[in-house]
Amino acid sequence: MQTIRDMADLPAVLRAVRGGGATLALVPTMGALHAGHMALVAEARARADKVAATIFVNPLQFGAGEDLGRYPRQEAEDAAMLEAAGCDLLWLPTPGQLYPHGFATTVSVAGVSERWDGAARPGHFAGVATVVAKLLLAVRPDVALFGEKDFQQLAVIRRMVADLGLGPEIVGVPTVRDVDGLALSSRNIYLTAEERHRALALPRGLQDSAEAIRAGQHVATVLDQAELALRDAGFERIDYLALVDAATLEPLNAPAGEMRLIAAATIGTTRLIDNIPV
Ligand code: PAF
Repeated sequence: MQTIRDMADLPAVLRAVRGGGATLALVPTMGALHAGHMALVAEARARADKVAATIFVNPLQFGAGEDLGRYPRQEAEDAAMLEAAGCDLLWLPTPGQLYPHGFATTVSVAGVSERWDGAARPGHFAGVATVVAKLLLAVRPDVALFGEKDFQQLAVIRRMVADLGLGPEIVGVPTVRDVDGLALSSRNIYLTAEERHRALALPRGLQDSAEAIRAGQHVATVLDQAELALRDAGFERIDYLALVDAATLEPLNAPAGEMRLIAAATIGTTRLIDNIPV
């Protein structure tokens, strides 16, 4: 695996990687890699001849008072995992090169960005859309892969890529969970053992709610009960718990078409998000 930092090296390295007409998949990450990221790399390998990954803790997608400073950084370990997973190229952009002095242009995606995490974390999706646009323009992959765990992020990226004609196919990869059901996340390391145990109420609540909705129970009642269960388990703040249209992320008060149950809630100091198909 070739590793580069300087953006100026990227064109020549990409020419070499794509030599002979090889197709290229991109896996953008913020590092602190786990089995969920490795599932992205595995899917990338199945879909393209060569795989590039990026690690960049993007300051633009963190709000004031969020965890930018304490976000886990473990570059050497991440690089070893990517290499072992068969990644061909790792690019570690520098903030100064992605956001040069005087940087003033951002990408904001109306509609699908606005509710849920968009409301709870103002500016977050503009930060995500901007950095993903920049990475896609710099690497020009044939396909780019993102986890379904960040379901709204995936919808925002799909919308942006379609609207701006950025080119690559966007592939969502199903969430990877621990054996007990907790969705893997780089932020799970913030949880104490006790919080981690109580946090299982989140995937369980989503699962139970999906079953109740499938069984024909009233959506609002099911969501109210799930919210109570989360509070009982110790989630102090629930940003949202909703049944939404899987493409537009608009809320649904009755089952219709392709649906997703989505939730964001905080236990201790850790904000967790999760979602499941219904
Ligand atoms: O999902 C993430 O890790 C980040 O939001 C992404 C897509 C790499 C953009 O910084």
